Amino acid sequence: MSDSKDPSGMRKGLTNYGDAGFSLFLRKAFIKGAGLTDHALDRPVIGIADTGSGYNPCHGNMPQLIEAVQRGIMLAGGLPVKFPTISIGESFAAPTSMYLRNLMSMDTEEMLRAQPMDAVVLIGGCDKTVPAQLMGAASAGLPAVQLITGSMLTGTHRGEVVGACTDCRRYWAKFRADEIDEQEINDVNNQLVPSVGTCSVMGTASTMACVAEALGMTVPGGATPPAVTSDRMRVAEHTGTVAVEIARSRLTIDKVLTEKAFENAMRVLLAIGGSTNAIVHITAIAGRMGLEVDLQALDRMGRETPVLVDLKPSGQHYMEHFHAAGGMATLLRELKPLLHLDALTVTGRTLGEELERAAPPFKQDVVRPRTNPIYREGGIAVLRGNLAPGGAIIKQSAADPKLMEHEGRAVVFEGLQDLADRIDSDDLDVQREDILVLKNIGPKGAPGMPEAGYIPLPRKLARQGVKDMVRISDGRMSGTAFGTIVLHVTPESAIGGPLAHVRNGDRIRLSVSKREIALLVSDAELARRAQEQPVHEPRAERGYRKLFLETVTQADKGVDFDFLAAPVKKGAVPKA
Ligand code: FES
Repeated sequence: MSDSKDPSGMRKGLTNYGDAGFSLFLRKAFIKGAGLTDHALDRPVIGIADTGSGYNPCHGNMPQLIEAVQRGIMLAGGLPVKFPTISIGESFAAPTSMYLRNLMSMDTEEMLRAQPMDAVVLIGGCDKTVPAQLMGAASAGLPAVQLITGSMLTGTHRGEVVGACTDCRRYWAKFRADEIDEQEINDVNNQLVPSVGTCSVMGTASTMACVAEALGMTVPGGATPPAVTSDRMRVAEHTGTVAVEIARSRLTIDKVLTEKAFENAMRVLLAIGGSTNAIVHITAIAGRMGLEVDLQALDRMGRETPVLVDLKPSGQHYMEHFHAAGGMATLLRELKPLLHLDALTVTGRTLGEELERAAPPFKQDVVRPRTNPIYREGGIAVLRGNLAPGGAIIKQSAADPKLMEHEGRAVVFEGLQDLADRIDSDDLDVQREDILVLKNIGPKGAPGMPEAGYIPLPRKLARQGVKDMVRISDGRMSGTAFGTIVLHVTPESAIGGPLAHVRNGDRIRLSVSKREIALLVSDAELARRAQEQPVHEPRAERGYRKLFLETVTQADKGVDFDFLAAPVKKGAVPKA
């Protein structure tokens, strides 16, 4: 092993002792200690980011995936080296997984920088893991390929197909409304997550899987195979092979994550009725590449991009059905006129070339033709108005059409504790036409912008059969949730956005057709309230929480840390 001007494999990134020769000598001794021969050390080194964790059942197939990736790498003549990073399991992370996404992205970025590898396979699946890995890899700049863990299978409850987590919420709402008893809620709990893998509806995990494929960051067909299938294992083996190819061809991530790739990803997000969270994640990934997301342009793109994929929560099917219907190739073929087919993918071929190579189309009922969409516009609309000068969003495809043009009286909750204390009280002054407002769940508010925007309906109204109300917050909601829910109100209340000054009884107007969210209170009155009750931004004394509160950006900037975005801005996406 001798040093060279352009080192590769295990010769890269030597530990600094002030004596390069000694550094290489020492590294060689230690890698020999791991049982590797000189023959192995001459190969391209492919890192594998292992995010297996007992706290993350969505990644429960990690050992099998790693075995298949390693096989693919070795078949192609590379040397696989797996390494751990943080893993975030959605239901096991407090205060919220989003609080930790940036930490995982920093862990990923720094491990890619610090350890010698020519390319990396990023294995992620649960909601925040794929965005965190793509953010970290985008900043590290190596050749990288994303492998998705894959969705869980569906279960059945008393003859009905169920899956996490749209049905988790539906059944819980029935239980709160006394429509089902304790026995049934316990029974369905056993069926909602019938295998390892990510949530089986078009929630954030499935959305980010589709977004990753649309970005060109997975092998073709990488988004949809369920976690426990042989299809998924073959995708993993193929991913390993591709990783060696991109290491050899030096296909760095900046050649894939281009403006065209982000526009393709946004089209796909809109056409799948995808999770609102994906907007925040795409914004953060784009920010790492020096691209800003133009929410108004995204809204215009939405007006000409119909929802075509019939999956819950916007439709009726589950991920395994999308996969059986041909997966992303079926959708991308339908979207062809709206896509940049010349965008490069990790295979070294363009999206259009990969579509030509995909299996031929067949009759199926999960991906609709553009002439017969599930919803005539994209799933997500961007709202503006004096309540959200920096924007807010609504998932219109999962909202009640009767509530999308609505004016009502605000019923305000000051934060999560206030909500928990009062939402089920019989004394709560609330009517079905009122608008529920929840403050202090934005990026700095909770902190971490938890998925608490899916405000539960007051129990007394749920018992009267109310199924939906307009709800407004500066938080997020799970991609598996549904309802007429305005999210990501920017700027958030915790930093003094107008939301902070909404009071019980104020009138609020929502018009999705006009893309408006208006607080019908004068500017002078809002200014008076701001002076009467000034907002004190949350602070922390030490540690990650201090870093988070001092540097996290608002939803329109991706909730990334301000110092992690690319220092040089290259432009905006999508193009206006
Ligand atoms: Fe992991 Fe839903 S909890 S994907």
